[in-house]
Amino acid sequence: MALTKLGIRQFRNLHHVDFEPSEDLNLITGQNASGKTSLLEAIYFLGRARSFRTHRFDRIVENGQQELSVFAQQKLESGQKVSFGVKKAAKTVQIRINEQKITKVAELVKNLPLQLIHPNSHQLLEEGPRYRRQFLDWGVFHVEHHFYPSWHRYQVALKQRNMALRQSSRKELIQIWDKELIEAGMLLHDMRSRYVSELQALLHDYIEPLLGQLDISIQYQPGWAKDLAFEEALLQGIDRDRDKGFTGVGPQRADIVVKVSGVLATERISRGQQKILVTCLLLAQAALYNNKTAKKCILLIDDVAAELDPDNRYKLMQVLQGMEVQMFITAIEQGTLLPMRDFSSTSKMFHVEHGKLTDVV
Ligand SMILES: Nc1ncnc2c1ncn2[C@@H]1O[C@H](COP(=O)(O)OP(=O)(O)OP(=O)(O)O)[C@@H](O)[C@H]1O
Ligand SMILES: [Mg+2]
Repeated sequence: MALTKLGIRQFRNLHHVDFEPSEDLNLITGQNASGKTSLLEAIYFLGRARSFRTHRFDRIVENGQQELSVFAQQKLESGQKVSFGVKKAAKTVQIRINEQKITKVAELVKNLPLQLIHPNSHQLLEEGPRYRRQFLDWGVFHVEHHFYPSWHRYQVALKQRNMALRQSSRKELIQIWDKELIEAGMLLHDMRSRYVSELQALLHDYIEPLLGQLDISIQYQPGWAKDLAFEEALLQGIDRDRDKGFTGVGPQRADIVVKVSGVLATERISRGQQKILVTCLLLAQAALYNNKTAKKCILLIDDVAAELDPDNRYKLMQVLQGMEVQMFITAIEQGTLLPMRDFSSTSKMFHVEHGKLTDVV
C-alpha cells in the first residue's frame, strides 16, 4: 500500500502542506529546523493518532492554533483507494476512514501500518523492556488477527487480579483470575514466540549486507522463568505478588534479548553498529509484515545519515532500495541520499524550507 496524496494542517511548523508522494521512494531534504522530522511525525500521527516525539498536544499543534489535521489517500495493492483523516484538538480526536468515524485507534493502526526508523531508534537496545515489547507487539499485532483480542483479554484479567491482590488477603479470591490470565497469556506467549523465530530467520538477510558476518541472536523471554510453565510461575510467585500488590510474572514482563556472539549487543558492538542492527531489526520486521500479509507497510526514515560513515550509508541505501515499499527518507543534504542515483523513475525528491514543501525536479 502507498499514500498517494497527503495533506497536513497546523502540525508544528507545517501550516499548510499538500503533496503527492511517490509510491516508492520519497527523499526529503532541508536544513536544520526546516520541518523534515515534523513531516514524518505528521505521517506517523495519521497512522497512530499520536506522535513519536511527545504525548502533549500543545507541542505538536502549530503555535497559536487550536486544532491540527492530517489526511491522506491510500492506494491498496488491489488498486482500491481508501481515505484517512485524523483531526485533533486539545480534548478531542476524530478519526475517519473512508469518511466513516472510527473510535478505535487499533483500527487505524491496522489499516495504515507504518514503520519508523529515527536517530534514537537504538534506544530499542539500550532502554527498558517496554520499548522491546512495543517493537515485538507491533509485529505480532500486524500479522496475527488474534493478538489484539487476546492482549485485551489478558489486560482485563491482569487488572482484576492486581485489584484482588491489593484488596484481599485470601488466595482463592486472587486465584479466581488465574485461569483467564493463563489462557489469554499463553495465547500471547505462543504468538510472540512464533513471531520471534520468524523474525530471527529473516533478520540475516539484512545483517549480512549491512554488518557482515556477525553472529546475532534474538532471544524471546516470555516474562517468567524459562524452566517453568506460566501456571507454575504464578503459583510460585503468589506470596511475593501479595506483598507487592501486583502480578510479578507474565507476558506484561516479556522482553527480547539481542546478543552478538553470545554477549549483549549493547556491550559488544559499537554505537554505529548498534544503530545499523536496530535498523536491520526494523527492516526485517517490515519485510515479515510484507511476507505474511501480502500487503506492504510504509517506512519513515528520519535523518538516515546520522552517525553513519559514507560506506555504511551507501550499504544502507542499497538495502533500502531493495525493499520495494513506500518510503519517506529525510536528510539534510541531497548528497547524503545519493548514491540512490539509480532511483526508479517513479521516485520523488522534495525540499522543505520553513515548513513549506516543494518538489525538486
Ligand atoms: N508547535 C510548533 N509550532 C510551530 N513550530 C514548531 C512547533 N514545534 C516545533 N516547531 C518548530 O518546527 C521547526 C521544524 O522542526 P523539525 O524538528 O521538523 O526540524 P528538522 O527539519 O527535522 O530539523 P533537524 O535537521 O535539525 O532535525 C523547528 O524550528 C521547531 O522549532
Ligand atoms: Mg529532524
